[in-house]
Amino acid sequence: MTSTVTNNNLQKYIPVIGALNSKSGFAYQLTRGVTAIANASQMALAESYINGLEIPDSLVKGTVNAVLPIFYKYFPSLLVPYEWVLQESQELAESSRELMKVQYDLPEELFDLMLRESELIYPKYTMALWEKGASNILEAQKDMLDDVIEKLDIKDGDNILDLGCGFGASCNYILSKFPNVKVTGLNLSHIQCEYMRKKMQDPQSALSSDRFTLLEQDFNEAVFETKFDKVIAIGMLEHIGNLTNALEKIASFLQDNGQAFIHIISIRLPHNIWFPFLEKYIFPRARVWNYDQIPLRNRHLKTINQWYINGSNYRKTLSSWLKDFDANQDRIKTLNYGMDYERFRRMWRLYLLCCIAFFEAGNGQVLGNGQYLLVPNS
Ligand SMILES: C[S@@+](CC[C@H](N)C(=O)[O-])C[C@H]1O[C@@H](n2cnc3c(N)ncnc32)[C@H](O)[C@@H]1O
Repeated sequence: MTSTVTNNNLQKYIPVIGALNSKSGFAYQLTRGVTAIANASQMALAESYINGLEIPDSLVKGTVNAVLPIFYKYFPSLLVPYEWVLQESQELAESSRELMKVQYDLPEELFDLMLRESELIYPKYTMALWEKGASNILEAQKDMLDDVIEKLDIKDGDNILDLGCGFGASCNYILSKFPNVKVTGLNLSHIQCEYMRKKMQDPQSALSSDRFTLLEQDFNEAVFETKFDKVIAIGMLEHIGNLTNALEKIASFLQDNGQAFIHIISIRLPHNIWFPFLEKYIFPRARVWNYDQIPLRNRHLKTINQWYINGSNYRKTLSSWLKDFDANQDRIKTLNYGMDYERFRRMWRLYLLCCIAFFEAGNGQVLGNGQYLLVPNS
């Protein structure tokens, strides 16, 4: 205990080693300088790869696997590429339109093929749960949805809001399972909403029920007249820059006896982190929040339960996505990405490969998913 305190005190004055948020003036500035060099090196490597540099997958994964645990353990400060990663933004979600263009409004068929779909499990673009013995991605996604239902204690008759509902995977699953629930899905992605609108016309789909309401809308602008029994946000708060205000807004959507369930990529390091390549090419203005941020910022709510889901579940999920991305090249290469396909393919594979390695490093104990059950403050 005493030696940890001494180490923390010392690290305040030593550049680069240890957490960024504990550093004093000079050590902080020098750390930022070294981070700028690390950012530039990472971007130069990533862009060379995207532009055609041949590096085998095993070398990409092997390098990240060798380097990242060292960063996690000794140099977490170098994983803060921009100052804003540590701070809350003015707006709830920043650059949402840009995010849709770069990521969520890519062709639907890319996601159908990569994420897979069945009659019950629509494409789900978040961690699947493999720990319960699933043998494929659809089973693992079903296990994750069952786990959410259990933890949030969804009951037939609940009125539920799903924030950032993607292609409607959880909406459809919950509506299929409970004959009297009502679900409202909110999503800013036009392409994903178009997928759900098609399902709303299909009598076989639970989304065609009048118990489902779809809102194509930005979370920044969302207001509701009715209050909900349950609010779910699976994989959306990564795109939120101001957690305090977002949680306040979620609290305002809930009944007095309601409950919110938040599922988010999170890091068990002293502070938030982010990756410059993902920022520029894949998920603009996202952050990986530190695992304790939600309970720390839940001013209008109270966190009554919290779970850490090991990153190996995301490693397996991403590995399945990469396999299906590669296996379906015949179709995927014909879709319109607004750029040269070979460039897109390399960029997309690098994203998946790096994320596999990010979640694998540290045996999934550092980067994983956080789940939080929250109730209104009485
Ligand atoms: C990682 S996906 C998760 C989707 C879904 N919950 C799932 O598990 O498959 C994030 C979702 O949040 C939506 N989203 C991101 N920012 C948003 C915003 N500002 N307003 C509404 N939806 C947003 C995206 O369009 C996308 O559907």
